[in-house]
Amino acid sequence: MRLRLIALFLLLLLGFCRVAAQPSSPATTAEIERRIEALLRRMTLEEKIGQLSQYTSATPETLKLVREGKVGSLFNVMGADNTNAAQRIAVEQTRLKIPLLFGYDVIHGYRTIFPVPIASASSFDPQLIEGIERVAAKEATAAGVKWTFAPMVDVARDPRWGRMVEGAGEDPYLGSVVAAARVRGFQGHDIAIPQSLIACAKHFAGYGAAEGARDYNTAEMSEQLLREVYLPPFHAAIQTGSGTIMAAFEALNGVPATANSQLLTGILRREWGFSGMVVSDYGAVHELIAHGVAANDQHAALKALTAGVDMDMADGAYQSLLSLEPGKLPMKRLDEAVRRVLRLKFKAGLFQHPYTDPTRESLAQLTPDNLQLARRAAEESVILLKNQNHLLPLSKSLGTVAVIGPLADDKGDQLGSWAAQGRVEDVVTPLEGVQAKLPNVQVLYAKGVDIPSFERQPLTTTVAAPAPLSATGVAGVSTAAGTGGIQEAVEAANKAEVTVVFMGESAMMTGEASSRAFLDFPGRQEELLERLVATGKPVVLVIESGRPLDIRWANAHVAAIIQAWYPGVQAGNAIADVLLGDASPSARLPLSWPRSVGAIPVYYNHKNTGRPTSPDRWHTGYIDESSEPLFPFGYGLTYTTFRYSPVRVLTETVAPGGEVRVEAELQNTGRRTGTEVVQLYAHNRVGPISPPVRELRGFQRITLRPGEKKTVRFAINTNDLGVYDSHQRRVIPSGLYDVWIAPNSAEGVSSTFSVSSVASSSGSR
Ligand code: BGC
Repeated sequence: MRLRLIALFLLLLLGFCRVAAQPSSPATTAEIERRIEALLRRMTLEEKIGQLSQYTSATPETLKLVREGKVGSLFNVMGADNTNAAQRIAVEQTRLKIPLLFGYDVIHGYRTIFPVPIASASSFDPQLIEGIERVAAKEATAAGVKWTFAPMVDVARDPRWGRMVEGAGEDPYLGSVVAAARVRGFQGHDIAIPQSLIACAKHFAGYGAAEGARDYNTAEMSEQLLREVYLPPFHAAIQTGSGTIMAAFEALNGVPATANSQLLTGILRREWGFSGMVVSDYGAVHELIAHGVAANDQHAALKALTAGVDMDMADGAYQSLLSLEPGKLPMKRLDEAVRRVLRLKFKAGLFQHPYTDPTRESLAQLTPDNLQLARRAAEESVILLKNQNHLLPLSKSLGTVAVIGPLADDKGDQLGSWAAQGRVEDVVTPLEGVQAKLPNVQVLYAKGVDIPSFERQPLTTTVAAPAPLSATGVAGVSTAAGTGGIQEAVEAANKAEVTVVFMGESAMMTGEASSRAFLDFPGRQEELLERLVATGKPVVLVIESGRPLDIRWANAHVAAIIQAWYPGVQAGNAIADVLLGDASPSARLPLSWPRSVGAIPVYYNHKNTGRPTSPDRWHTGYIDESSEPLFPFGYGLTYTTFRYSPVRVLTETVAPGGEVRVEAELQNTGRRTGTEVVQLYAHNRVGPISPPVRELRGFQRITLRPGEKKTVRFAINTNDLGVYDSHQRRVIPSGLYDVWIAPNSAEGVSSTFSVSSVASSSGSR
């Protein structure tokens, strides 16, 4: 009897799980379209424009607008109770009962905060990234959020730009792989499933190329550069099914992205066939006035709508369309935008299941599985940049270790910028992580110095006397613990066998509106580092920042350096795992690390020029600094070493459309198990436009035991070698190509293959 009851219970449970995982959208596309048309026929102009309007927060004013049928989406409303309450108004108190869509910036987790996006991109592990976004989607949807304004897929070549932290770095190929993984993770296989979150690839397009890296600034670039470098991650996100796209703030070649029909209609719709919904960025429709392309909100709204913006975020500018003279409003375009909003809501299952089951909310957050993934993600995101004399991993039988620095025990900064519902009380700091792992070791802690809090620079500044290098954070207000703090840290270091110092930027110095003119360690941190190194004791530097900093001094004087970015809630546990060898570092740089601000931009996939860099003066470069990066794209060490055999090309000549197969043998030549990110690069020797010196075309994470060997195989589809000529035609250059299977973008021995100019029916031979 008991067994039968258990069996019955299990059957019921299985049935429930199936129902819970079922998509809840109407059965067929035809049915959705029929219902959209039926609704459209009944909608007033006010209700149509309402569906195209998104407002922030559930205030009495916005809820009144909801009741009047004038809101399609709310954002920054979280928590099942809050979203359900607002939804009840839309579904039960409006004439047409159209549900609201709740949006939120779920950038690197909802409550379980994962490493910032630039960090998880450093893992070169798309499966991990997909898993992270799956967890983020489960937590966010359990709290009533159905739409995230992520992933940010803007390529960034200039670390002065604060939003580099939100992206995947400088490379279009890595950026595309990461973009696709994030979309898959957020959306699952169907956005109608309650645990799926609609993705929004942003900011379309060219936002990462802001002049001088000043956020929101103009971007000027050739169409060829746009297509080769800045667009591919967007295309990948769309090909993976991203439900929405966000238009960027900036003007691209003089035309603000929000009013840019070449981008929003020409490329997005006509070329790529995107059928989802486009939302403007926060207040960006209204900002068309400041851009100088619209005279007032009505003009701006008309321009944005005509160019292809379906939903207007936050500024209410689309409301002004209501008072347009009859006949001036492009009704066909307006209806098309409304259809897209309604279609998204139908596909997301909102008409059938507008409410969130409140019992899911607390159960979904910060589960042990989520925390375990957060720890693994953080371990896989830290990059070992330097490890002189195998200082790392540290021995667990040390007598005394000093943990120093302003970021060693600060909880908030571990979360990084834009940390959604992350809470400081969830965070394990590096100090706590080290203490937990070394219960029998004396761990001495001293903060040393503070990181100054940065206020915005005034519009006009008086010229001040130059500040000493270690205090170039002149704009910052330093509440530093003075020399006393540094002295205390030095005393701790003197007593310890090894010092681990955690320095960098506060999380608030990164993200939106956080462009920097200097890339040094703000405040007196470098002075602290100099004093610690002067003790003669071994020093490990762990950098937490949202961008590469100027670490020339540290690189010359510190024995071991780790770039940890902002690792999230499990920061301390993960960093302690890596420092003490329970995890081996396996991340790689998703960008080229500049030597100094003056050497920016520096990126690996640059053109060769007629006078490639050389010691000879009359070649491209600087007279006072190397033009090579301090560390190249793709670089990172681990606790073992690997040997690569020369690359073997199995397909020496291939026709366009065919596949080139290449392989190399990888061997773990060290004494520990380790993971290598094996990278495939190619370069065409002669093309219609000057080609980049190398381009990433593939990568694999390979884990090998000591002595173990593995043949790593890659296939390059020649269609992926296509480039845009100066007429924006995509062509596959024929002729000779170089190919590398290498540990990073600056190393490796190349071989060659060639692409013939005649397409063969078999594709390759
Ligand atoms: C940012 C977007 C973000 C939006 C909503 C804007 O300021 O540029 O990335 O999604 O705000 O919070």
